[in-house]
Amino acid sequence: MHDTHEIVVNGVPVRVRVDPEPERADRLSLWPSVGEYPIYDPFLYTTMTTDEERNKRFRTALAHLAPGKRVLDLGTGQDVVWAREAVAAGARQVVAVEVIPDSFRQAAANLTAYRLEDQVTLVRGESTAVDFAPKADICVAEIVGSLASAEGAAVVLGDAKRRHLVPGGVVVPHRAVTQAAPVCLADLFAKQPVAFSAAALTYLQAIFDWSGKPFDVRLRIENASPDALLSESTTVEELDFNGDMRARQRTTTRMTITREGRIDGVLTWLQLWCLPDDAPLDALRMKTNWASIYFPLFQAPVPVTPGAELELTFVVTIGDDGVHPDYQLSGTLRTTDGREHVGTLTSAHHGGPFRAQPIYQHLFPVT
Ligand SMILES: C[S@@+](CC[C@H](N)C(=O)[O-])C[C@H]1O[C@@H](n2cnc3c(N)ncnc32)[C@H](O)[C@@H]1O
Repeated sequence: MHDTHEIVVNGVPVRVRVDPEPERADRLSLWPSVGEYPIYDPFLYTTMTTDEERNKRFRTALAHLAPGKRVLDLGTGQDVVWAREAVAAGARQVVAVEVIPDSFRQAAANLTAYRLEDQVTLVRGESTAVDFAPKADICVAEIVGSLASAEGAAVVLGDAKRRHLVPGGVVVPHRAVTQAAPVCLADLFAKQPVAFSAAALTYLQAIFDWSGKPFDVRLRIENASPDALLSESTTVEELDFNGDMRARQRTTTRMTITREGRIDGVLTWLQLWCLPDDAPLDALRMKTNWASIYFPLFQAPVPVTPGAELELTFVVTIGDDGVHPDYQLSGTLRTTDGREHVGTLTSAHHGGPFRAQPIYQHLFPVT
């Protein structure tokens, strides 16, 4: 049914359950969420630069906003993709910043290859630690996660608006939200083992090496079907990049179960607007580089019938690096027979517990 592989983190072996089948479009793939860690490589960059569902929205926004303007491409990545689009759109000046040293070096080589080194100024470093003059009119930054805020967009773009943009400057994207709805993981994976894709092992290793120890990574599920949801979805966090942006948020919502099934957690996913009047990108319903994130809440699946209610509190705080959020979820499931089931989860960006929930004990077996 599944294989067990061993990776070694800081000299300590960690066993990982792996799906023996290769990734396919008609199967789910389970990965750790990767975007919030400095482990980008050519494969991850390519999944983004070939994501047309995403790229057409950013391209349209830049074509509309960039002509004649000073543009800052924050987190340009190895492919300097928005810097190139800004030049193509007729920007007056383009500055691109990248924090990962290897990505910066590759970005510099790509600018030379595209003969854009005179039109784009490339800066190495973290945007929160560098200064730019003159200030930009437009800041384009694709630092949005499968959980909207996971890559630190609220803190980083809050800083960019204060220090790098002229008053009235515009951020692209315009808005991002995280949606949530109850699901049962075992039912989502009814036709295949609950196990990481073999291709994800490299990234688990990179995240654990970066962190110095294993921890309960966020579970990224590709190709999840909206049919798995047991209620309408609800918004659990909102980032209005051109409005009142809150890095810390607390949202409590109630979802009424609409069909018979089982619940052990919630599925969350991104909706993204690059311009205010866009039709949003919906990462659950469209094929993009973003996927959904599953959060376990209950120790075992709880059977439900229509009319049951899940009250979910979703809290976003900022972790100890001052940029990346930690999430706390608490759920109270009231079934129609009058019983109450309570579950909680803390999902730290790094350094949280390891094997704290049954799903993580399953994915990282001890023997
Ligand atoms: C999701 S990737 C996007 C890459 C590229 N802009 C694209 O859209 O295809 C985010 C990139 O932003 C970089 N990054 C994130 N936060 C940053 C910051 N505060 N300053 C500079 N670079 C940052 C990361 O290292 C990574 O290369």
